Amino acid sequence: MTQITHDDLGKGAVVVLLHGYPFDRSMWREQTEVLRANGFRAIAPDLPGLGENKVTAKTSTMPEMALDVARLMDELNVDQAIICGLSMGGYVAFEFAHLFPQRVRGLVLAGTRAPADNEQERKGREQQVEKMLAEGMTGIAEATLPKLLAPRTLSEKPDVVNRVREMILKSEPTGAAAAQRGMAVRRDYTGDLSAIKVPTLIIVGREDSIRPATDAVFMHEQLRESRLEIIEDAAHMTNLEQPEVFNRAVLSFLRRLE
Ligand code: MLT
Repeated sequence: MTQITHDDLGKGAVVVLLHGYPFDRSMWREQTEVLRANGFRAIAPDLPGLGENKVTAKTSTMPEMALDVARLMDELNVDQAIICGLSMGGYVAFEFAHLFPQRVRGLVLAGTRAPADNEQERKGREQQVEKMLAEGMTGIAEATLPKLLAPRTLSEKPDVVNRVREMILKSEPTGAAAAQRGMAVRRDYTGDLSAIKVPTLIIVGREDSIRPATDAVFMHEQLRESRLEIIEDAAHMTNLEQPEVFNRAVLSFLRRLE
C-alpha cells in the first residue's frame, strides 16, 4: 500500500496533477472531476512535505519529488502519463521529464518558469523558511494572497480566497520549509526545454506577478511543440481562479494528443 497520499479518479489516459507551494492535492478538485467526466484518469498526489505527505528531511528536492511521483505511478501500474504541474509542480514536471522522458506523453506547465533562482531569490526563500518555522503559516498566507490571486478574484470570489488561505494555513511549517529549501536549490531547466519532445501546453495568468507571462513566452519560444494559453482575470492560481477556462484549455490539448 502506498504511503503517498493521492486522489485517483476515472478511467482512461492518465493525467498526473502536481500542485504548487505551499498547497496540496486538493487544489486540483475542479480538474480531477472534469477530467473524470471527460474520460480521463486523474491522479493528484501530495508532494513531499505538503498535504498529508509528511517528511522529516530538512530539504525536499525537486528530483526527490519527481522520484516520488514515479514511485506512485509504479504502484498504480501507470507507465505513461500527461504530466501537469503548477508552479512548483512545474519544476517537478521538468525533473520528471528529464529523469523519465519515456513516461511522459505530454506536459502542461502552468504558472512556472525554467530558470533557477538568483541569489536574492534564494535569500528570500531562506527568510521565509525562518519566518514560518518561528511563527507558523499565518503571516505567509496574508502576505502572499494578494500576489497569488488577481484583484478580481480577491474582490469577487471569496470562496476561492478562503480555500487558498485554508490550504496555506493547513500546511505543516516543517514540510513547507523543506519544499521551499528544495526550490531554492533547484537547477536551471532552460537547457532542458529543447530536449522536450512531447507536446506541451503552457498556461499563465495575465496578472501573475510571481511567474509572469514573460516566463511563459520564454518557454513557448524554446519548446519544440507548445501552445500558450494566457488566462484573463487570473494571477498565479489559474486553475482555481478561472477553472472553466483552465479546464477548456487542458481538455482541448488532451483531445489533440489522443
Ligand atoms: C508555487 O506556487 O509553487 C511557488 O510560488 C513557486 C516558487 O516559489 O517558485
